[in-house]
Amino acid sequence: MPAHLIVLAAGQGSRMKSELPKVLHRVGHAPLFVHALTAGETLEPETRVLVVGHGGDAVQAEAANYDPDIRIAHQTEQLGTAHAVAQACDALKGAEGDAFVLYGDTPFIRPETLSRMAAARAGGAAVVVLGFEAADPGRYGRLVVEDGTLERIVEFKDATEAERAITLCNSGVICADAATLFDLIDAVGNDNASGEYYLTDIVGIARARGLHCAAVTCPEAETMGINTRAELARAEAIFQDRRRAEAVDDGVTMTAPETVFFAYDTHLGRDAVIEPHIVFGPGVTVESDAQIRAFSHLEGCHVGARAVVGPYARLRPGAELGNDAKIGNFVEIKSAEIGEGAKVNHLSYVGDATVGAKANIGAGTVTCNYDGVFKHRTEIGERAFIGSSTMLVAPVRVGDDAMTGSGSVITNDVPDGALGLGRAKQVTKDGFAKRLMASLKAAKAKRTN
Ligand code: UD1
Ligand code: MG
Repeated sequence: MPAHLIVLAAGQGSRMKSELPKVLHRVGHAPLFVHALTAGETLEPETRVLVVGHGGDAVQAEAANYDPDIRIAHQTEQLGTAHAVAQACDALKGAEGDAFVLYGDTPFIRPETLSRMAAARAGGAAVVVLGFEAADPGRYGRLVVEDGTLERIVEFKDATEAERAITLCNSGVICADAATLFDLIDAVGNDNASGEYYLTDIVGIARARGLHCAAVTCPEAETMGINTRAELARAEAIFQDRRRAEAVDDGVTMTAPETVFFAYDTHLGRDAVIEPHIVFGPGVTVESDAQIRAFSHLEGCHVGARAVVGPYARLRPGAELGNDAKIGNFVEIKSAEIGEGAKVNHLSYVGDATVGAKANIGAGTVTCNYDGVFKHRTEIGERAFIGSSTMLVAPVRVGDDAMTGSGSVITNDVPDGALGLGRAKQVTKDGFAKRLMASLKAAKAKRTN
């Protein structure tokens, strides 16, 4: 059955004390709403609708970066969760299949949990609500279950003492046939303690119509919503712990996983070795058997199989390392392809460049890629040998099997197999150093007398 996601992201999040709309705050480098969407991917949704309100333009712009197909519904006034879902009605007009409502500020719902909700729908429940046993039920809505049937949800403010004693709480995640959902929402009023249109009311309305409703439960940890910076920091820690555990389970070796930081989309191949104190920014893929050595920072890059990176290396966006490549200490790579088995082992900057297979880049080499206005490319051929401390003033090409002399400033292309030398010729003066030192020492002795 086709599925559709509705992610509520209109709230202001005033407790974040931020200019940024709450759902744009990041966990693992991805905005909160992206985590909700990602959990929903397991349902292979046909439609994704993001309901935006506060900071709507900014949220819409960010959403387009992640998924150009995402539909945006505007909720200009926040009149409650049912009102928010109602704004998605146009985007889902005529849609067949189930609609899942998720909150944009609740990043940890597991895909398996949503699959269990889909299964409960397939099992005949018209409305399925995700509940959890709360350690401290606080102000959550309470699920009223009688004889295994979910009868209604009562909001804390409207609950009786007996209802407040219920510990089975509403996570906010709800699923129903799309057409049924909007039909039920049409019947929701706002005659309650908050004067809001409660999405939770659809359960009682469905029951009154003789429809079956069910609750699926999950651990409380999944339902954690972010309302404050402290909760955001806690969410980051939870996210990192989850990703570390997943990586280890998937066959990655990590000697000190608690010191490794993941992004939402970090991909580590089997038997990759990740040493301590590594930071993965967004967009990193590390292939099998590669080694990321201690204190390295990677973002927007691809590390080939068996490649070795670091210690103390920095891979910036567009770094593409071929299989068996080696990037050593204090080396920065940006927008550059490093061919198979090529080595850049020490103290170098390689940016806007192509380095051929098996090339060797000597210590202290710099691709001078920027003239102050434009960026230019450097091409280094296969098996080329770049002498230590070569300045490659781009645009420039060093051919296959070519060499440059140490300390050269290379401004012209070096053809295949040639040696490029671009440095002052050495002058040697016999005995000069000794004489100079003697005269300096004599001058010093005179001064101190
Ligand atoms: C809601 C539930 C409650 C549940 C709790 C779980 C209702 C009526 N209550 O309460 O049963 O236990 O979540 O956290 O649904 N939003 C909009 N537009 C609106 C209102 C809300 O987009 O007009 C979004 C918010 O940004 C937020 C989510 O919906 O992401 C939930 O809204 P919130 O105001 O936090 O609802 P609660 O009162 O916490
Ligand atoms: Mg809330």
